[in-house]
Amino acid sequence: RKKVTVHTLQARKAARQPITMITAYDYPTALAVDRAGVDVILVGDSLGMVVLGYPNTLPVTMEEMLHHAKAVARAHPSALLVGDLPFMAYQADIAEAVRNAGRFLKEAGMDAVKLEGGREMAPTVEAIVRAGIPVMGHIGFTPQSLHRLGGYRVQGRTAVDARRLLEDALALEAAGCFAIVLEMVPEPVAAAITERLRIPTIGIGAGAACDGQVLVLHDLIGLFDRFTPRFAKKYADLHQEIVRAVQAYCEDVRSRRFPGPEHTFSMDPEELAAFQA
Ligand code: KIV
Ligand code: NA
Repeated sequence: RKKVTVHTLQARKAARQPITMITAYDYPTALAVDRAGVDVILVGDSLGMVVLGYPNTLPVTMEEMLHHAKAVARAHPSALLVGDLPFMAYQADIAEAVRNAGRFLKEAGMDAVKLEGGREMAPTVEAIVRAGIPVMGHIGFTPQSLHRLGGYRVQGRTAVDARRLLEDALALEAAGCFAIVLEMVPEPVAAAITERLRIPTIGIGAGAACDGQVLVLHDLIGLFDRFTPRFAKKYADLHQEIVRAVQAYCEDVRSRRFPGPEHTFSMDPEELAAFQA
Protein backbone atom coordinates (compact mmCIF):
# COMPACT_ATOMS: atom_id res chain seq x y z
CA ARG A 1 0.00 0.00 0.00
CA LYS A 2 1.23 3.50 -0.86
CA LYS A 3 2.15 5.78 2.05
CA VAL A 4 -0.63 8.23 2.90
CA THR A 5 0.51 11.86 3.03
CA VAL A 6 -1.14 15.19 3.78
CA HIS A 7 -1.56 15.54 -0.01
CA THR A 8 -3.47 12.24 -0.16
CA LEU A 9 -5.97 13.66 2.35
CA GLN A 10 -6.34 16.89 0.38
CA ALA A 11 -7.03 14.84 -2.78
CA ARG A 12 -9.64 12.81 -0.88
CA LYS A 13 -11.54 15.97 0.02
CA ALA A 14 -11.39 17.20 -3.60
CA ALA A 15 -12.69 13.81 -4.82
CA ARG A 16 -15.29 13.64 -2.02
CA GLN A 17 -13.93 10.28 -0.84
CA PRO A 18 -14.36 10.00 2.96
CA ILE A 19 -11.13 9.89 5.00
CA THR A 20 -10.81 7.13 7.63
CA MET A 21 -8.92 7.75 10.87
CA ILE A 22 -8.56 5.62 14.00
CA THR A 23 -6.38 5.66 17.09
CA ALA A 24 -3.70 3.07 17.86
CA TYR A 25 -1.42 2.98 20.87
CA ASP A 26 1.03 0.13 20.41
CA TYR A 27 2.69 -2.23 17.91
CA PRO A 28 -0.03 -4.90 17.51
CA THR A 29 -2.91 -2.41 17.25
CA ALA A 30 -0.92 -0.37 14.69
CA LEU A 31 -0.29 -3.52 12.60
CA ALA A 32 -3.99 -4.44 12.73
CA VAL A 33 -5.49 -1.04 11.87
CA ASP A 34 -2.95 -0.47 9.09
CA ARG A 35 -3.73 -3.88 7.61
CA ALA A 36 -7.41 -2.84 7.72
CA GLY A 37 -6.50 -0.01 5.36
CA VAL A 38 -7.19 3.08 7.47
CA ASP A 39 -5.88 6.40 6.06
CA VAL A 40 -4.72 8.05 9.29
CA ILE A 41 -3.49 6.55 12.57
CA LEU A 42 -3.70 8.90 15.56
CA VAL A 43 -1.64 8.13 18.63
CA GLY A 44 -4.21 10.01 20.70
CA ASP A 45 -3.84 11.26 24.24
CA SER A 46 -7.05 9.26 24.76
CA LEU A 47 -4.50 6.53 25.58
CA GLY A 48 -4.42 8.12 29.03
CA MET A 49 -7.98 6.91 29.58
CA VAL A 50 -8.27 3.72 27.50
CA VAL A 51 -4.78 2.30 28.08
CA LEU A 52 -3.34 3.93 31.23
CA GLY A 53 -6.50 4.21 33.33
CA TYR A 54 -6.41 7.96 34.06
CA PRO A 55 -9.81 9.60 34.70
CA ASN A 56 -9.29 12.03 31.76
CA THR A 57 -6.51 13.10 29.34
CA LEU A 58 -5.02 15.84 31.54
CA PRO A 59 -2.30 13.79 33.33
CA VAL A 60 -0.77 12.41 30.10
CA THR A 61 2.89 13.43 29.63
CA MET A 62 5.10 13.86 26.54
CA GLU A 63 7.18 10.87 27.69
CA GLU A 64 4.07 8.65 27.82
CA MET A 65 2.98 9.84 24.38
CA LEU A 66 6.43 9.21 22.88
CA HIS A 67 6.64 5.74 24.46
CA HIS A 68 3.39 4.73 22.69
CA ALA A 69 4.13 6.65 19.46
CA LYS A 70 7.45 4.81 19.07
CA ALA A 71 5.72 1.43 19.41
CA VAL A 72 3.16 2.42 16.74
CA ALA A 73 5.87 3.65 14.35
CA ARG A 74 7.72 0.31 14.63
CA ALA A 75 4.80 -1.24 12.69
CA HIS A 76 5.87 0.96 9.70
CA PRO A 77 2.25 1.70 8.74
CA SER A 78 1.27 3.07 5.34
CA ALA A 79 -1.27 5.24 7.13
CA LEU A 80 -0.32 8.83 7.96
CA LEU A 81 0.94 8.86 11.58
CA VAL A 82 -0.27 11.69 13.81
CA GLY A 83 1.06 12.25 17.34
CA ASP A 84 -1.30 14.01 19.75
CA LEU A 85 0.33 16.80 21.78
CA PRO A 86 -0.71 16.24 25.42
CA PHE A 87 -1.97 18.83 27.89
CA MET A 88 0.72 21.41 28.79
CA ALA A 89 3.09 20.34 26.01
CA TYR A 90 2.11 23.35 23.86
CA GLN A 91 -0.20 25.73 25.77
CA ALA A 92 2.35 27.60 27.93
CA ASP A 93 4.81 28.79 25.31
CA ILE A 94 5.37 28.62 21.59
CA ALA A 95 9.04 27.58 21.61
CA GLU A 96 8.20 24.67 23.92
CA ALA A 97 5.32 23.71 21.59
CA VAL A 98 7.66 23.61 18.58
CA ARG A 99 10.22 21.51 20.49
CA ASN A 100 7.60 19.02 21.70
CA ALA A 101 6.03 18.77 18.24
CA GLY A 102 9.52 18.13 16.86
CA ARG A 103 10.07 15.25 19.29
CA PHE A 104 7.14 13.36 17.75
CA LEU A 105 8.88 13.40 14.35
CA LYS A 106 12.51 13.23 15.44
CA GLU A 107 12.27 10.64 18.24
CA ALA A 108 9.02 8.77 17.59
CA GLY A 109 8.72 8.55 13.80
CA MET A 110 5.39 10.39 13.51
CA ASP A 111 4.50 12.22 10.27
CA ALA A 112 2.45 15.02 11.86
CA VAL A 113 1.08 16.31 15.18
CA LYS A 114 -2.36 17.32 16.47
CA LEU A 115 -3.24 19.97 19.02
CA GLU A 116 -6.47 21.27 20.55
CA GLY A 117 -7.78 24.82 20.34
CA GLY A 118 -9.10 27.51 18.01
CA ARG A 119 -7.86 30.98 16.99
CA GLU A 120 -5.80 31.31 20.19
CA MET A 121 -3.60 28.49 18.87
CA ALA A 122 -3.02 30.10 15.44
CA PRO A 123 0.44 31.56 16.32
CA THR A 124 1.50 28.18 17.79
CA VAL A 125 0.31 26.32 14.67
CA GLU A 126 2.20 28.80 12.46
CA ALA A 127 5.42 28.29 14.42
CA ILE A 128 5.19 24.47 14.30
CA VAL A 129 4.37 24.48 10.57
CA ARG A 130 7.29 26.90 9.99
CA ALA A 131 9.53 24.23 11.57
CA GLY A 132 8.39 21.83 8.85
CA ILE A 133 5.89 19.87 10.92
CA PRO A 134 2.34 19.29 9.59
CA VAL A 135 -0.33 20.20 12.18
CA MET A 136 -3.86 18.83 12.54
CA GLY A 137 -6.26 21.11 14.46
CA HIS A 138 -8.99 19.97 16.88
CA ILE A 139 -11.99 22.13 17.84
CA GLY A 140 -15.50 21.70 19.25
CA PHE A 141 -15.33 19.63 22.41
CA THR A 142 -11.64 19.61 23.31
CA PRO A 143 -11.03 17.12 26.15
CA GLN A 144 -7.94 18.92 27.49
CA SER A 145 -10.26 21.89 28.30
CA LEU A 146 -12.71 19.61 30.10
CA HIS A 147 -12.76 21.77 33.24
CA ARG A 148 -13.25 25.08 31.42
CA LEU A 149 -16.00 23.55 29.26
CA GLY A 150 -17.70 22.15 32.36
CA GLY A 151 -18.01 18.53 31.24
CA TYR A 152 -18.52 16.41 28.12
CA ARG A 153 -20.88 18.65 26.17
CA VAL A 154 -21.74 19.33 22.55
CA GLN A 155 -20.15 22.63 21.39
CA GLY A 156 -21.54 25.21 18.96
CA ARG A 157 -25.22 24.74 19.72
CA THR A 158 -26.08 28.46 19.75
CA ALA A 159 -25.76 30.75 16.72
CA VAL A 160 -22.98 32.71 18.49
CA ASP A 161 -21.02 29.58 19.43
CA ALA A 162 -21.49 28.07 15.97
CA ARG A 163 -20.13 31.24 14.31
CA ARG A 164 -17.21 31.19 16.73
CA LEU A 165 -16.39 27.59 15.75
CA LEU A 166 -16.47 28.49 12.06
CA GLU A 167 -14.10 31.41 12.71
CA ASP A 168 -11.79 29.14 14.74
CA ALA A 169 -11.71 26.66 11.86
CA LEU A 170 -10.88 29.42 9.35
CA ALA A 171 -8.14 30.77 11.64
CA LEU A 172 -6.56 27.29 11.93
CA GLU A 173 -6.70 26.83 8.16
CA ALA A 174 -5.07 30.24 7.64
CA ALA A 175 -2.40 29.30 10.21
CA GLY A 176 -1.46 26.28 8.09
CA CYS A 177 -3.30 23.24 9.53
CA PHE A 178 -3.62 20.40 6.99
CA ALA A 179 -6.88 19.07 8.53
CA ILE A 180 -9.15 19.76 11.51
CA VAL A 181 -10.91 17.36 13.89
CA LEU A 182 -14.44 18.47 14.82
CA GLU A 183 -15.55 16.83 18.06
CA MET A 184 -19.14 16.85 19.37
CA VAL A 185 -20.47 19.56 17.06
CA PRO A 186 -24.05 19.71 15.68
CA GLU A 187 -24.28 18.26 12.18
CA PRO A 188 -25.27 21.54 10.41
CA VAL A 189 -22.34 23.40 11.98
CA ALA A 190 -19.88 20.66 10.95
CA ALA A 191 -21.41 20.72 7.44
CA ALA A 192 -21.00 24.51 7.17
CA ILE A 193 -17.36 24.35 8.36
CA THR A 194 -16.62 21.47 5.97
CA GLU A 195 -18.02 23.48 3.08
CA ARG A 196 -16.14 26.67 3.93
CA LEU A 197 -12.72 25.03 4.44
CA ARG A 198 -10.28 24.01 1.72
CA ILE A 199 -8.64 21.52 4.15
CA PRO A 200 -10.45 18.32 5.25
CA THR A 201 -12.58 18.12 8.39
CA ILE A 202 -12.53 14.87 10.35
CA GLY A 203 -15.54 14.37 12.58
CA ILE A 204 -16.12 12.54 15.86
CA GLY A 205 -19.68 13.10 17.01
CA ALA A 206 -19.99 15.71 14.24
CA GLY A 207 -22.26 13.95 11.72
CA ALA A 208 -21.87 12.55 8.23
CA ALA A 209 -21.06 15.77 6.34
CA CYS A 210 -17.42 15.88 7.44
CA ASP A 211 -14.67 14.94 4.98
CA GLY A 212 -13.69 12.03 7.24
CA GLN A 213 -14.43 10.26 10.51
CA VAL A 214 -12.30 9.33 13.53
CA LEU A 215 -13.02 7.01 16.45
CA VAL A 216 -11.07 5.80 19.46
CA LEU A 217 -10.05 2.20 18.63
CA HIS A 218 -10.94 0.86 22.08
CA ASP A 219 -14.51 2.23 21.76
CA LEU A 220 -14.88 0.65 18.29
CA ILE A 221 -13.61 -2.79 19.35
CA GLY A 222 -15.25 -2.71 22.79
CA LEU A 223 -11.99 -2.99 24.71
CA PHE A 224 -12.77 -0.07 27.00
CA ASP A 225 -16.04 -0.77 28.78
CA ARG A 226 -15.94 1.96 31.46
CA PHE A 227 -17.96 4.36 29.35
CA THR A 228 -18.72 4.62 25.64
CA PRO A 229 -19.75 7.99 24.19
CA ARG A 230 -23.00 8.13 22.21
CA PHE A 231 -21.13 8.99 19.00
CA ALA A 232 -19.01 5.82 19.13
CA LYS A 233 -20.19 2.74 17.23
CA LYS A 234 -19.14 -0.55 18.80
CA TYR A 235 -18.16 -3.10 16.12
CA ALA A 236 -16.90 -5.81 18.49
CA ASP A 237 -16.86 -6.70 22.18
CA LEU A 238 -13.21 -7.56 22.80
CA HIS A 239 -13.49 -7.02 26.55
CA GLN A 240 -16.03 -9.85 26.75
CA GLU A 241 -13.93 -11.90 24.33
CA ILE A 242 -10.85 -11.56 26.57
CA VAL A 243 -12.85 -12.50 29.67
CA ARG A 244 -14.27 -15.54 27.83
CA ALA A 245 -10.84 -16.70 26.61
CA VAL A 246 -9.11 -16.30 29.98
CA GLN A 247 -12.00 -18.04 31.77
CA ALA A 248 -11.69 -20.96 29.35
CA TYR A 249 -7.94 -21.10 29.97
CA CYS A 250 -8.43 -21.10 33.77
CA GLU A 251 -11.00 -23.90 33.51
CA ASP A 252 -8.65 -25.94 31.29
CA VAL A 253 -5.78 -25.58 33.77
CA ARG A 254 -7.96 -26.46 36.76
CA SER A 255 -9.39 -29.54 34.98
CA ARG A 256 -5.94 -30.48 33.56
CA ARG A 257 -7.22 -30.19 29.95
CA PHE A 258 -4.33 -27.78 29.33
CA PRO A 259 -1.53 -28.29 28.48
CA GLY A 260 -2.17 -31.15 26.03
CA PRO A 261 0.43 -33.36 24.30
CA GLU A 262 0.68 -30.82 21.43
CA HIS A 263 1.85 -28.14 23.89
CA THR A 264 4.33 -30.41 25.64
CA PHE A 265 8.00 -31.28 24.95
CA SER A 266 9.21 -34.90 25.07
CA MET A 267 12.67 -36.35 25.62
CA ASP A 268 14.87 -38.91 23.87
CA PRO A 269 13.99 -42.31 25.55
CA GLU A 270 17.65 -43.20 26.11
CA GLU A 271 18.39 -39.86 27.72
CA LEU A 272 15.27 -40.26 29.83
CA ALA A 273 16.34 -43.76 31.03
CA ALA A 274 19.81 -42.45 31.91
CA PHE A 275 18.23 -39.47 33.69
CA GLN A 276 15.92 -41.76 35.71
CA ALA A 277 18.70 -44.24 36.62
O1 KIV B 1 -7.03 11.45 21.68
C1 KIV B 1 -7.84 11.09 20.79
O2 KIV B 1 -8.12 9.90 20.60
C2 KIV B 1 -8.42 12.14 19.95
C3 KIV B 1 -9.48 11.75 18.96
C4 KIV B 1 -10.74 11.39 19.65
C5 KIV B 1 -9.70 12.80 17.93
O3 KIV B 1 -8.05 13.29 20.09
NA1 NA C 1 -6.78 13.72 21.88
